[in-house]
Amino acid sequence: MNKKGWVIYNGNLAGNKFLDYAEMIQAAASAKNLEITIMKNNELLSLLSKDILEIVSFAERELPDFAVFADKDIYLAKQLELVGVKVFNSAEAIEISDDKIATYQHLAVSRLPIPRTIIAPKVFYSGQLEETLLDKVIREIRLPMIIKEAYGSFGEQVYLLHSKEAIHKKMEEIQGKAYLFQEFVPESYGRDLRLQVVGSKVVAAMERNNRNDFRANVTAGGSMSSYTPSQSESDLAVAAASAIKADFAGVDLLIGPDNTRIVCEVNSNAHIRNLLECTGVNAADYIIDYILEALS
Ligand SMILES: Nc1ncnc2c1ncn2[C@@H]1O[C@H](COP(=O)(O)OP(=O)(O)O)[C@@H](O)[C@H]1O
Ligand SMILES: [Mg+2]
Repeated sequence: MNKKGWVIYNGNLAGNKFLDYAEMIQAAASAKNLEITIMKNNELLSLLSKDILEIVSFAERELPDFAVFADKDIYLAKQLELVGVKVFNSAEAIEISDDKIATYQHLAVSRLPIPRTIIAPKVFYSGQLEETLLDKVIREIRLPMIIKEAYGSFGEQVYLLHSKEAIHKKMEEIQGKAYLFQEFVPESYGRDLRLQVVGSKVVAAMERNNRNDFRANVTAGGSMSSYTPSQSESDLAVAAASAIKADFAGVDLLIGPDNTRIVCEVNSNAHIRNLLECTGVNAADYIIDYILEALS
């Protein structure tokens, strides 16, 4: 029997980046005779009671065998799993990836290289920041340092701070949110590597460069070029994806001292359009092959 799938994207976000991803997955599937329907997360309702565990679809569709989850609606991903749908990436992987603190904890416990990091203690702000905390953090991490919110993307919630005063101000600004303090890796200023992992291999990679900002993100003004990763870079990226339990992921590596590599981020929901345009490799084809294999 032919397996049927959904690709689920965020029905509420502006722009067509998310729909574009869904369409790339659908096209790759259709080329391999795999039927995939594009669904919006907000047209699926998770219904639960003592006797009911269901997903109600606005379009009254039957549940699929699997779902490619292009969204971060973790509860929906989990509900799909609870009703027996195989979800790629899993709700757990998406949840870890979405939270940079959880990501670094998984990477550290897997003994993978990450920048030295301190998780900001969860405190209720009382109008004054504790000085000793800040002094200790500066002693451990040194200046300049990075402050990074646990939830963020496109480099928008990542800050480079040069003084105690600037850190203090930022802590006040973002108090109430989860964030971390992190060693700044100067060798990687405006530069990083993006390796696209699918299963146990790297299918394409690019180097990103930004002359005007410490962040290499393309949305922050970075430019991309195709990159051929070394075996050890590929091994590190695959290990990083596996540390967060992702079936596929875009792994960002920083360039460390002595030309070492340090894991910066593991994106369970990496966009693949830029990668296709830059390298000519369509990661969607590999993702579909991976899913076909996993379902067989
Ligand atoms: N510790 C660090 N040292 C140097 N540069 C960093 C560090 N952390 C992040 N960056 C830069 O900032 C960019 C964005 O950080 P990242 O953690 O990937 O957040 P986002 O999810 O917003 O992309 C990275 O691509 C990298 O160029
Ligand atoms: Mg990033």
